[in-house]
Amino acid sequence: MDFERFRAVSRRDFVTSAVAIGGTSALAACQDRERAATETGADGDGGEDDDALDLPRPEDPSDRPNGLHRWNDYLVRNAHGNTVLPRHQVVLGLSYEGSVPPTDEEREQVEAALRTLDRAYQWGTSGNQGASLSNGLLWMLGYSQRYFDRLDADPDPLLSPEEVLDAVGEDASLADPFDAVLVLNADYGSVAMAPEHALWGETDQLNGVEVEATLEGVFSRETRRTGITGKGVVARELDNEDVPEEAPLSMGYRSGFADNQAPEDRATIDDGPFAGGSTLAVSRLHIDLDRWYDQDTEERAAEMFCPAHDLDEVGETAEQLGTSSRITPEDAESVEEHAEEYGRIGHSQKVARARDDDFVPKIIRRSEGVATDVAEGAGFNFTSIQADVQDFVEVRKAMHTEEYDVDLDADDHGIVDYLETKARTALIVPPRERVALPEP
Ligand code: HEM
Repeated sequence: MDFERFRAVSRRDFVTSAVAIGGTSALAACQDRERAATETGADGDGGEDDDALDLPRPEDPSDRPNGLHRWNDYLVRNAHGNTVLPRHQVVLGLSYEGSVPPTDEEREQVEAALRTLDRAYQWGTSGNQGASLSNGLLWMLGYSQRYFDRLDADPDPLLSPEEVLDAVGEDASLADPFDAVLVLNADYGSVAMAPEHALWGETDQLNGVEVEATLEGVFSRETRRTGITGKGVVARELDNEDVPEEAPLSMGYRSGFADNQAPEDRATIDDGPFAGGSTLAVSRLHIDLDRWYDQDTEERAAEMFCPAHDLDEVGETAEQLGTSSRITPEDAESVEEHAEEYGRIGHSQKVARARDDDFVPKIIRRSEGVATDVAEGAGFNFTSIQADVQDFVEVRKAMHTEEYDVDLDADDHGIVDYLETKARTALIVPPRERVALPEP
C-alpha cells in the first residue's frame, strides 16, 4: 500500500504505521520523523544523509553476549526494576534457499550479513543501566525443525511446529511454514525496520556502516509481522475505547514482572551443539478484546492474576504490583478452591503451576508485540524463550481448561478463552558464534 495514502486515512502513530507498512519510502519517512524528534543541532541543509537517524555505533561490536537471547542487561528498566521490552517489533518468517548442506561461502555470507547489524547498532541499551530509551537493536535468529529436516538432523531440544501444536491440542494446519525466523526489536521504529533493508540489499548503509553482505540467495522473506508494546502507544493503536490509556499490552495489564520470568540461565541450553543458545516459541494469537472488556475491572483482574488478589493492589494496569505478580505457591495450589469460592480463576496462578520444583518460572517473555499488521480485531505476537521447547508446551498446557477439575464457564477460566491461536512455530536460537546456518 502507498505509504502517504495510508497515512492520510490512518489514526495511528506515524512511526508505528511506517514499521507496519515496511518498504523503502516508509523507512525513509520513519527515519526522517525520528531524526527530527531527536535532533539537537544537525544542520538540516538538505545534504545527502539528512534523512538518516544517526545513532551511536558500538565501539567494540564483539562486546556483547554470545547468547542472542541474553537481553536482560541490555533492556531499559522501569522504576521498579522490571525490564521493559523495546517498543517496536518486526518478526520475519524466512524460507531457506541455500544449498543442502550449506556451503562455507553461504555460511560466511550469513556471518558477514549479521555482523553488519552488530557493527551498525549497539546491543540494546549497551548495558547502560540508567537508560530510559534504547539507541540500539536486539535481534534473534532461530531455526525450525523444517530447516534441520533439510539437513537430515533432529536436534534437541527442538520440536517441529506440528509437534508443538499436537502437544497443546491444536490443529497442525496452524504450523508456520518457516525454516527460520528473524526477530528484530528496538525503541526506534526505524532501527527495527532498517536491518531488513540492509539484509535484503535495499540499502548499502546501515546507521552509517557499510553493508558487508546480504542474506539474498540464502533466505527469502515469507511473512512479515509487526508489533508494538509500551505505555501510551497500545491504546492509541487499537480500535477499542476500553483499553486503558497507560496499558502496555492490549488486555490492560503489564506482564514480564522480574519475579515471574525465568532467570536467563534457566532459559539457556546447557549442553549439546547449541549450548549457550535458547529456544524460541513464536505464536500469532488473536485476542477477543470486545468480550474481555465486556467484563468489569474486578473480573478482568481476577482472570489475569488471581481472584484472591485485592483489586486495589492490582490497580488499573498492574504497574503498582512492583516486581512481582504476587502469585504464591498457595495461589497456584488453590485453583480448585478459588474456582469454588470466587467462580473464576486467574491466568497467572494457572501458569505458575508449571514452575519448577523450587517455584522458579521456566520461560521468559522476550520480544512480543500487539500486532500492527492486522486489519481487523486485535492480534498479538507472543514470543517466549526457554531452554527446551517442552517447557513452553508445559506452560501452555497449564492454561487449558481440561487440565483442571473445576466447574467453571470457559470465560471465567483465566484468559485462555479470549485467545485464539492463528499460527505457531518453534525454533532453536543458536549462540552468536554458531548462528550462521548451523549444522548440529
Ligand atoms: C496473549 C495474551 C497474554 C497476556 C496479556 C498475558 C499476560 C500475563 C500477565 C499479566 C502475567 C502476570 C505476570 C508476569 O507476566 O510477570 C502473565 C504471566 C505469565 N504468562 Fe501470560 N499472558 C498472555 C499469554 C500467555 C501465553 C500464551 C503463555 C504461554 C504459553 C503465557 C505464559 C505466562 C507465564 C509463564 C507467566 C508467568 C507465570 C508465573 O508467574 O510463573 N502467557 N501473563
